[in-house]
Amino acid sequence: MNTIKINNIVVLTGAGISAESGLETFRKRNGETFWPVGDDVFPLEDVATAEAFARDPELVQTFYDQRRAKLGTVAPNATHRALARLDAEWPGDLLIVTQNVDDLHERAGAKRLLHMHGELKSAWCLGCDARSRWEGNLIDGPACPACGAEGQLRPDIVWFGEMPYEMERIEEALRKADLFVSIGTSGAVYPAAGFVQTARYMGARTLEMNLEPSQGSVFFHESRIGRAGDLVPVWVDEMLKP
Ligand code: OAD
Repeated sequence: MNTIKINNIVVLTGAGISAESGLETFRKRNGETFWPVGDDVFPLEDVATAEAFARDPELVQTFYDQRRAKLGTVAPNATHRALARLDAEWPGDLLIVTQNVDDLHERAGAKRLLHMHGELKSAWCLGCDARSRWEGNLIDGPACPACGAEGQLRPDIVWFGEMPYEMERIEEALRKADLFVSIGTSGAVYPAAGFVQTARYMGARTLEMNLEPSQGSVFFHESRIGRAGDLVPVWVDEMLKP
């Protein structure tokens, strides 16, 4: 890839980059999406919508409590480390937009990072609207650190039907991007799945790295197929080569 004219980079990451750390990706079966956590399997509509939370808050809190607890058992992998290196050393603009709600990018050291689908380690108070860093469980209805109200905290996760975070900032970065890179995402969930079209339309070169061609593969100038942990460090080396 010609790096000479590239200044502004937007990287989009998805569940595929955390798979090599031991966090499972989502599974599609008969057109339905399931989340595996340990030996349990949760259908999408039971755990990832505001309706599900209203219907069965215990189930939803338990699901996210389990996923939050799992973070303590996993570590960043070669992809997270390579992207953190790119962040530290890339002299131009860079924005890493992740759909992942784990904390592996930041644990690897990434700073220019945006969690568009929220974070497991954040709790959102439905009473006072504050977001607080959160490490433990929410199932027991703990008090909000900001207002003290009990039983008002929900996972700070963007559920289906809710608006992803910081879309204006993302759109602006996509408009300015010289290079858009998508890594480990199936390209099935909008608006993230449409970022490649926006970036390309505005003139960016587009590259995907994934285990298999994503659903939007035709929109990319280049597809590199394989494990992110093998592909991404090589690509970062290319980008940072003097
Ligand atoms: P998916 O689980 O839909 O897709 C993961 C992609 O990663 C698939 O295309 C896999 O082929 C690929 N993959 C798996 N292992 C890989 C590896 N080692 N290296 C490279 N690629 C690998 O996950 P996302 O696309 O991230 O939304 O899903 C997007 C959104 O859908 C999520 O953020 C979540 C979900 O519903 C919300 O929670 C709102």
